[in-house]
This record gives sequence, C-alpha cells and structure tokens, in this order.
Amino acid sequence: MGPRHVAVIMDGNGRWAQMRGRPRLFGHHAGAKRVREIVESCPGFGVKYLTIFAFSTENWKRTQSEVAGLMSLFKRYITGEAEALRKNGVRVRFIGDRVRLDPKLTQLMDELEQMTAENDLVHLTVAINYGGRDEVARATKRLARDVAAGKLDPEDIDVETLPRYLDTRVLPDPDLVIRTSGEARVSNFLLWQSAYSEYEFIDTLWPDFTPEEFSKVLARFGKRDRRFGGVKA
Ligand code: IPE
Ligand code: IPE
Ligand code: MG
Repeated sequence: MGPRHVAVIMDGNGRWAQMRGRPRLFGHHAGAKRVREIVESCPGFGVKYLTIFAFSTENWKRTQSEVAGLMSLFKRYITGEAEALRKNGVRVRFIGDRVRLDPKLTQLMDELEQMTAENDLVHLTVAINYGGRDEVARATKRLARDVAAGKLDPEDIDVETLPRYLDTRVLPDPDLVIRTSGEARVSNFLLWQSAYSEYEFIDTLWPDFTPEEFSKVLARFGKRDRRFGGVKA
C-alpha cells in the first residue's frame, strides 16, 4: 500500500541556483514550477493528501530581498495556478501563522481555499510561515482559552485533544515525509503529526525532483514495515 498522506520539505532551491551561477530567487522560481507536476501526479499514485513546506517561521532570518522575493512568488503562484488547481480537483489549504503575512497574500490564500473548497481529488496543504513549535504554541493558547472559558476540562485533555487545535486538525497524519537536497533534519516541520511517519531523505535538489523519482520513493515506502511500537503478527 502506498502512502495516503505525503509531506514534502522542498529543500535545495538556493543550491540549485548557486550551481548555475544564478541568484537564489531563480531557484525558488524553478522550485515553484515543480510543484504543479508533483501535485498532478498524486491521483495516479494514490496520494490523497500532499502537504508541502514553502516557508518556515525561521525563514524570516534570510535577507530582506530573498524574503520579499518569496512573498511575491507566493502571490504570483496563487494567482497563476488558482484556476488550474480548481479545474483539476485540488482542494487547497494553508497552514502556518497568517498574522505576520502581507494582507494581500492572506486574501489570495483565503480566496483559493474558498474557490477549491468543493474539490476532493487531492488535498494540497501549503505551509507558509509554518513552524511545528509555533503551531503547538498557538494551539495551546487556543486550548487554554477554552479551559479558561469553561468549555474544556483539563482532566479531559489527552493525545486526541491537542491535534484538534492544530492547524492540521482536518488532516490525517503524514504517512511519509520526504526531504530533498540531502539534509537529514526536520527543521520544525509537522513535529506533532510526524510521530510515526516514515522519512525519506533524498539527495536530489527540489527543482530537479520529478514525478518519476516521486514514484520510486513511494515504491520504497510500500516495502517498509510500519509497526507503530507493536510487533508484527
Ligand atoms: C527551500 O530551498 C525553499 C525555502 C526554504 C523557501 P532553500 O532556499 O532552503 O535552498 P538551499 O537549502 O539554500 O539550497
Ligand atoms: C526548511 O528548509 C524550510 C522549507 C523547506 C520551507 P530550510 O532550508 O529553511 O532549513 P534549514 O535551515 O536547512 O534547517
Ligand atoms: Mg534549505
């Protein structure tokens, strides 16, 4: 069985550009172009949920020009891809803290969520200004408000409670997390949700990642033995 939910840390755009003697943003544009074919390959591979890491809560540390370039890329990407996503049955959601984002961007995000809300072929979730720790902190704040308001009894809090407050509350946990570019770390992605995810760290830089390589990674997933702490009968 293939994974139902695949999450991807799309890493290596900067190095891809650097290798070509081009500015980092050139790599981000090349990376954005890759997203469409990976999304479109999902139904054929049986992947119902695809979650992609586009911008982390730590990525604000980059130069002002790279951050601004990424933000305008997100705006242009949403505007340019919206109709194709809608037509292709993709339901788009965004996770991450929107408070720090440009209102023009968050408006486009809201509109894309609304215009694809009836779709069900593939569920694409895009993480922008997302950090796993930040998400847990924001979730805890909302949970604490419910306790303070008398809507939640602290004695009833268990491992099923917190995920209902996370940005991902409507999504299943990822079965497989793929990180491109050879870095073997999580970089604050889906910390709670990936407790029992399988990981694939692959050397390919994100702008070079093709549906063909995607299918190979998915095939390897099928051979894994997921035990969830138990013992295979
Ligand atoms: C990933 O590529 C995209 C973002 C973090 C926005 P990078 O920009 O991190 O590329 P490298 O890791 O520097 O090559
Ligand atoms: C993780 O990549 C974030 C995204 C892919 C959006 P980074 O390139 O920011 O992670 P580090 O800095 O190498 O850990
Ligand atoms: Mg990187």
